[in-house]
Amino acid sequence: MHNFEFTTTRNVVCEIGAAKKLSDYCKTLGMQRVMFITDPGILQTGMAQPLIKLIESAGISVLLYSDVLADPPEALVLSTVEIARRENIDGVIGFGGGSSMDVAKLVSVMTINDQPLGEMYGIDQVTGKRLPLIQVPTTAGTGSEVTAVSIITTGETTKAGVVSKQLLPDLALLDAELTVGLPAHITAATGIDAMVHAIEAYTTKHKKNVYSDMLSKQALSLMSASIVEAVHNGRNLEARSDMLLGAMMAGQSFSNAPVAAVHALAYPLGGNFHIPHGLSNSLVLPPVLRFNASSAGDLYAELLPYVDSGNNSGGVAAFIAKIEGLIDEVELPKTLREMNIAESDLAMLADDAMLQQRLLINNPREVSREDALAIYSSVF
Ligand SMILES: NC(=O)c1ccc[n+]([C@@H]2O[C@H](COP(=O)([O-])OP(=O)(O)OC[C@H]3O[C@@H](n4cnc5c(N)ncnc54)[C@H](O)[C@@H]3O)[C@@H](O)[C@H]2O)c1
Ligand SMILES: [Fe+2]
Repeated sequence: MHNFEFTTTRNVVCEIGAAKKLSDYCKTLGMQRVMFITDPGILQTGMAQPLIKLIESAGISVLLYSDVLADPPEALVLSTVEIARRENIDGVIGFGGGSSMDVAKLVSVMTINDQPLGEMYGIDQVTGKRLPLIQVPTTAGTGSEVTAVSIITTGETTKAGVVSKQLLPDLALLDAELTVGLPAHITAATGIDAMVHAIEAYTTKHKKNVYSDMLSKQALSLMSASIVEAVHNGRNLEARSDMLLGAMMAGQSFSNAPVAAVHALAYPLGGNFHIPHGLSNSLVLPPVLRFNASSAGDLYAELLPYVDSGNNSGGVAAFIAKIEGLIDEVELPKTLREMNIAESDLAMLADDAMLQQRLLINNPREVSREDALAIYSSVF
């Protein structure tokens, strides 16, 4: 029986050099005064400025906002909305990784609505419409360009998500040229994050569906074949293109079949120790796969040929070994100790992970506090 709901971005353009045509897409969407939202690291690469010039030369005025912080805090969203309102913008371009795109989503809604941000957290709480929105990812990771989610830092160590279909943009524009300068360690971490999206969506206990399954498999094929090359030879456009497309497909997949314990155990690492989202996921991925093997072994075995080009034998053990091998090859840290976490912090991490019930309920195997502590301890 196939009962499911699947929602994604209505228009996707995936083309080398497509970013140079942003003005055309802005015009199609009726944008004349657009806010271009990005972060200082991206501005420093110099790749945004010529694109902004191109948009302006088509007669569209561009308000550049380049102060997005990683794991964007609430105050940043609110102050950006204030600028957007004052400047009377009529469209938004999110240009960057998940952080810039997540801010762009909320700015596109809040600029023309009075609903307070505090009332938007949770599922389907956004009441108003949004301004035209184009998302241009420059990392191959979160898939935020096709997810109905914006993740905001709400306190010292806490994050909350606004989940609403209004947050899906009018257009996701994928141009792999924008990712060639992404540093190796960010390529590795964001790439593993995207692979986790595909894996966790495939084994999710709720809302698993045929579209997400198909996308997860294709995403894993593309990314497992290219992640090592993209990390070690970032100028390989083919590998970059595989990663960008794979990450988007994984985003479409998990946006409709939600992620689980890897993300639940990763969030406390990000919140308490400011470890980037992708790296947090990578650290707990192998032990969570081992923990889940008794419940999701068959599903992991089904994914083996997609992470190990056509390999159909070896089952769950070979799948986990292959994923561990990829983490080795992209040279990400593998222990919490390396991240300056003390053994005495593990109990607090396990307590925090238990707060992520929204995600834990999707895990193929129930996770107790003791289980979480054992998982953290195994990679200490
Ligand atoms: N909306 C969603 O569906 C979703 C899903 C998962 C995570 N998230 C959120 O997304 C954020 C993480 O996003 P991210 O991992 O993409 O990282 P990011 O947006 O925080 O960017 C990481 C770093 O990469 C740099 N960078 C980005 N593109 C570059 C390029 N092409 N060249 C050089 N440097 C570049 C940025 O300057 C920044 O310093 C977190 O806030 C996380 O909670 C959102
Ligand atoms: Fe993620």
